[in-house]
Amino acid sequence: MKFFVDTADTDAIRELKDLGMVDGVTTNPSLIMKSGRDIKEVTKEICDMIPGPVSAETVATDAEGMIAEGLELKKIADNIAVKVPLTWDGLKACKALTDKGHMVNVTLCFSATQALLAAKAGATFISPFVGRLDDINLDGMDLIADIREIYDNYGFQTQILTASVRSINHVSDAAKIGADVATCPPDVIKKMAQHPLTDKGLDAFLKDWAKTGQSIL
Ligand code: G3P
Repeated sequence: MKFFVDTADTDAIRELKDLGMVDGVTTNPSLIMKSGRDIKEVTKEICDMIPGPVSAETVATDAEGMIAEGLELKKIADNIAVKVPLTWDGLKACKALTDKGHMVNVTLCFSATQALLAAKAGATFISPFVGRLDDINLDGMDLIADIREIYDNYGFQTQILTASVRSINHVSDAAKIGADVATCPPDVIKKMAQHPLTDKGLDAFLKDWAKTGQSIL
């Protein structure tokens, strides 16, 4: 499973990158707002740091506007994946941009039929938002499983990019289903390393070690 980091915080990306944990990055207008930085400047810094796909989102609501913004964002770096929303106009923009050979991430996906349309429009990535489905008492993971089954039934190459990840269980469940990518906030990736039995076991080992009076170095 590929890990993308869902943030525009370059310090957080750098820390995870140094550990080999970052295969790509996703941003959106809310994350750019949170960074307090200029979209082109921060996206360029991320693209220079991470060779994998870096998603940058359009904000126009009509296909023509999305295509124009997508082409402008593509100028930042070769590894930009243009993000468009899963609307009818977004699908038109997806088709136009992928026909020109650009990577496109179709975002705000909440149903299997939306995902099917995105694949037919040539999307490189489909971003189902699992956390936001859980928020309204639906099961986000059911959607990941449905999309996996549908894409596999017909050999669609669109990669399932599990988004709106809020917990480590989202990551392990998506991995079990076979999602291609999980895009995670940095703190979720760090939490994956934690287990209370690891902490307890380490504490016990260190106490026993102290009783031996030995040192390794
Ligand atoms: O990957 C999409 C993400 O940024 C949205 O997450 O937690 O706002 O639903 P969230």
